[in-house]
Amino acid sequence: MADAKEFQDRLLSLGLARVSEAAALASAKLIGRGDEKAADQAAVNAMRDQLNLLDIAGVVVIGEGERDEAPMLFIGEEVGTGNGPAVDIALDPLEGTTLTAKDMPNALTVIAMAPRGTLLHAPDVYMEKLAIGPGYAPDTVTLSMSPSERVHALAKAKGCGPENITVCILERPRHETLIEEVRGTGAAIRLITDGDVAGVIHCAEAEITGIDMYMGSGGAPEGVLAASALKCMGGQIYGQLLFRNEDERARAAKAGITDLDRIYTRDDMVTADVIFAATGVTSGSILAGIKREPGWVTTETLLMRSKTGSVRRMSYRSPAR
Ligand code: FBP
Repeated sequence: MADAKEFQDRLLSLGLARVSEAAALASAKLIGRGDEKAADQAAVNAMRDQLNLLDIAGVVVIGEGERDEAPMLFIGEEVGTGNGPAVDIALDPLEGTTLTAKDMPNALTVIAMAPRGTLLHAPDVYMEKLAIGPGYAPDTVTLSMSPSERVHALAKAKGCGPENITVCILERPRHETLIEEVRGTGAAIRLITDGDVAGVIHCAEAEITGIDMYMGSGGAPEGVLAASALKCMGGQIYGQLLFRNEDERARAAKAGITDLDRIYTRDDMVTADVIFAATGVTSGSILAGIKREPGWVTTETLLMRSKTGSVRRMSYRSPAR
């Protein structure tokens, strides 16, 4: 019999899928209602309730914020029944609150679980991110390269010209120069308004999504979730924390980070085997969104384990409530 204290990723994975499904179902009624907070709160409540049913001694390391900012799923909150393996939990109950409120594509519920002490405790600051899919040599692209050098390096490794590379970037004023430089290489850009976990995941399935590389700054917590997904699917991600003021540096110190300039690789952010689940809230290029039919509601969930590289797409139909 398996040791109850071991990270039983195979057994826990189905439970994790239920957690992300429940969060998505809870936010379903709030799609397109213009209320980001209500949609997020519904997902948080459902995720927490389901998480507390799991036989784990879990600690939220990436969550809704610091204890004084978030009453539920705050960083450091203990979740689960307490009977079972000690695990780290990284979650974003609704990745794309604005996407949900406006009924725009690619809103997801996201959660990752790994043995205790193996997920980076990323503070709630920005992170500079760079990601590519599987099949490339390590350091094919790096954060120390300029954006145009990265496009040329990836094109060379892919055996094509820069005009055949597509880069995904968050549309933000802070990315204007980046966008201009990437466009200058002849590469195409898929601009997204929100949701960079999905943005990074796109790179792991470049043939389906048409996206080869992700670049730009976004939330550091989302960086760890994206690294968890790539650890399961293959692919590389680099992240460097960005600090705008003393308060943000203090957040890093509180999370135990001493080297503020460190560049984290995927395996620095996720140092052991991880399980990852995401459920579509609104339809996008990775997952179908919640489908409502008279009497029924259907979700699609991506469930992955890094130990085996298994990727499941699960459809779940439940009676509408
Ligand atoms: P929320 O789900 O919390 O709304 O975050 C969405 C998101 O787009 C993330 O995917 C991304 O990392 C971050 O916001 C970017 O932050 P900002 O909107 O400040 O540029």
